[in-house]
Amino acid sequence: MKEILTNNRDETQKFAARVAALATAGLVIALNGDLGAGKTTFTQGFSRALGVTERVKSPTFNIMNTYHARLFPIYHFDAYRLEETGAQDQGFEDYVGTDGVTLIEWPQYMTELLPNNRLELIFTRGNDDDSRKIQINGVGSAVEIERQL
Ligand SMILES: Nc1ncnc2c1ncn2[C@@H]1O[C@H](COP(=O)(O)OP(=O)(O)OP(=O)(O)O)[C@@H](O)[C@H]1O
Ligand SMILES: [Mg+2]
Repeated sequence: MKEILTNNRDETQKFAARVAALATAGLVIALNGDLGAGKTTFTQGFSRALGVTERVKSPTFNIMNTYHARLFPIYHFDAYRLEETGAQDQGFEDYVGTDGVTLIEWPQYMTELLPNNRLELIFTRGNDDDSRKIQINGVGSAVEIERQL
């Protein structure tokens, strides 16, 4: 487990760009952390670094948005609304960990679809409003990404 500290949203997005540079199709990134912790902010920086020009915003109501990056699609999930229902039988397995890179906010609500190989990031607020701690835990083959960060 590694960790980094960011002092503002820009630094979180720069970190996201470093992760993006190591991402290949099939990678799944679980974005853990409370409301406002920085999960969507990270996804914006990640997507922009890979050539996405559309506006990236939280897919709270439709659960998943697809963005067209240069080399592969990006599947951005916000599983918050799956707390009651779970993620089964909604066709999400056709996307998670397939031909694109998958980023999942609130991954604790779709554990049944999380693959064994994944990058776990945990966002927590620091002492002042704009600081965040980001813990990095590569599980399975994603240890290689953790090692390079
Ligand atoms: N160091 C930082 N990293 C990321 N965001 C920061 C930082 N400092 C301040 N912020 C602000 O915190 C907010 C993070 O919001 P964001 O939508 O990314 O959170 P989230 O984790 O996706 O929340 P939700 O669970 O509601 O989807 C933004 O308003 C952002 O500008
Ligand atoms: Mg969000």
